[in-house]
Amino acid sequence: MANIVLGVCGSIACYRAADLARDLMRAGHVVRVCLTDAAQKFVTPMLFETLTGQPCLIGAFEEPERGRMAHLDWARQADLLLIAPASANTLNKLAAGIADDMLTTMALAYEGPMVVAPAMNPAMYSHDATITAMRTLAERAVLIVEPTEGDVVVGEHGQGKLAANSEIVMAASTVLSARSLYAGKRVLITSGPTQEPIDDVRFLTNRSSGKMGAAIAQAALLMGAQVTVIAGPSATLYPRLARVIHVRTANQMLEEAAEAAGEADMVIGAAAVADYRPVHQAEGKIRRKSVDIHLELTPNPDIIAALAKLGKRTVGFAAEPTMDLSEAKAKIVRKGLYAIAHNDVSNPAIGFESDKNQLTLILANGSQEVSPLASKLQVALWLLEKIAN
Ligand code: CTP
Repeated sequence: MANIVLGVCGSIACYRAADLARDLMRAGHVVRVCLTDAAQKFVTPMLFETLTGQPCLIGAFEEPERGRMAHLDWARQADLLLIAPASANTLNKLAAGIADDMLTTMALAYEGPMVVAPAMNPAMYSHDATITAMRTLAERAVLIVEPTEGDVVVGEHGQGKLAANSEIVMAASTVLSARSLYAGKRVLITSGPTQEPIDDVRFLTNRSSGKMGAAIAQAALLMGAQVTVIAGPSATLYPRLARVIHVRTANQMLEEAAEAAGEADMVIGAAAVADYRPVHQAEGKIRRKSVDIHLELTPNPDIIAALAKLGKRTVGFAAEPTMDLSEAKAKIVRKGLYAIAHNDVSNPAIGFESDKNQLTLILANGSQEVSPLASKLQVALWLLEKIAN
């Protein structure tokens, strides 16, 4: 049983928040609702008060219990802040730290896990400002339950419909059940690509975006872990609460990871390490000539295999261009891993730059399980739950 504050913003999907409150109560939670001004154009406090048996907050200075400062009181007592539907306006305000109504004031005072389920016009959803706001929220480990594509109001079609209530309840339950799974644990993550210089302006690298490593870092933080990320160069932003060490080459990644691994309870290798590096790095710039040139390459160290030797629970990733699991299984043995997460990068829906993923987790003991196809954060939560025990 958990205390959930359900924030409801102005949207045609407001009516679904009533069912959502009921579903959460059926799952055994105490639900208290906070409505924004715009939400009150669609639904009333009385609807939610009758449904939940709890006071419903609307104004920033409301005091159901005098002298308790409701925004602080509710923020302290909540185990989860769930905002569904979340409007573009509220998402943008949350990202900027604006606190000009009860919901955003409470959110700013709140330090626990947050789930938001946006619902809005597709043009608003794809606006740069909204995308940036959602990125900022994701970096703060807010779990976003993405809207679905379909018919929205006034005859438009696109991504903006509030996700199914069952999906929102599942996201809330995952966050709640996992919140202390990693309390007191230290998780080390390698993430992103490495760059192996050829000369001062060129390098060998790969298509890894670092998004999966960032999602694992967010998930581990949500579950109470202390997180260190050894991150290769990429545009991905890592959560503010993680300790992030930026590196460039595989050798640098190994050096930093080996140092940080001493304190870690678990090591996760999400990095796409370049397998080879040029034997010689040319100074300056190799000039163009009209003859063939040859690049001599030498193998890079296997970072995860070296870390696995330290005896910590070590989990690797196998990004394979196929659904065939035999290579991934061979890597468990070759690298001495506890488990490996296979993903099929030939599928564009879950490949390198995608925001979604689906994994097959294979344990060294031979058991295997397939994750849902979901956002990288949801898949990361699933993965961490499976490898915790
Ligand atoms: N890995 C690593 N260091 C390397 C190569 C890979 O730490 N030099 C880790 C990756 O972070 C991942 C796992 O090993 O967790 C599997 O990576 P992958 O690239 O699939 O395996 P390779 O050993 O490079 O084999 P191949 O490229 O032949 O598939």
